[in-house]
Amino acid sequence: MNIKKTVGEAAVELIEDGMTVGLGTGSTAYWAIAKIGERVKKGLNISAIATSKESEVFARELNIPMVTFSEINEIDITIDGADEVDPDLNMIKGGGGALLREKIIATASEKLIVIVDDTKLVKQLGAFPLPVEVIPFGIESTRAKIEKLGCKTELRLSDKTKEFITDNGNYILDCEFPMIKNPEKTSQELNGIPGVVDNGLFIGLAHRVFVGRQNGSVNIIQK
Ligand code: 5RP
Repeated sequence: MNIKKTVGEAAVELIEDGMTVGLGTGSTAYWAIAKIGERVKKGLNISAIATSKESEVFARELNIPMVTFSEINEIDITIDGADEVDPDLNMIKGGGGALLREKIIATASEKLIVIVDDTKLVKQLGAFPLPVEVIPFGIESTRAKIEKLGCKTELRLSDKTKEFITDNGNYILDCEFPMIKNPEKTSQELNGIPGVVDNGLFIGLAHRVFVGRQNGSVNIIQK
């Protein structure tokens, strides 16, 4: 049973002719993009915008028509994964390092549909280290200020020696908080630090969460 495939494909049923679609990033979003590619091949008429270079390359391989922000007014629906989802549908994202483009696209979308397996559902956010995108200049100073908020930080690496570089040319600090009791406050505090570009807390953005379960069923959570 491939839960990621089942849940990714289930969400794609919401896509209709004429829509502009945001394409997520990660191993669950991969299956949604693959299904969209199949539907495009059968005649579905949509245009799409990707949350990462990786998803864009994949979508182009499948001949999904791609657009940029200069060509659209709004995104009708975005389908993306998440690392953690709490009962208020607040999320941690950015495990794949694409949090900034994901947030830009999520906030420009009429509907953000999140696709996860049930292991991603949590009572409180924070067991998954919170990804924070920071500019390389002054990272030592930025990092010290972030740690003053009460977390331990780890500079993400792409291999043992090289820093992971985001699609925007920045670094990621993975921040281990004991728990994130007040996501809104934590997000504001982080984004108030010079050098922080954005953080992986997605608050009040998810419209619906599709949850795939081991038995093959998909539940939909909506607030
Ligand atoms: C990438 C993300 C992903 O959506 C998140 O990491 C979930 O990925 P996966 O579906 O592979 O578990 O936020 O930046």
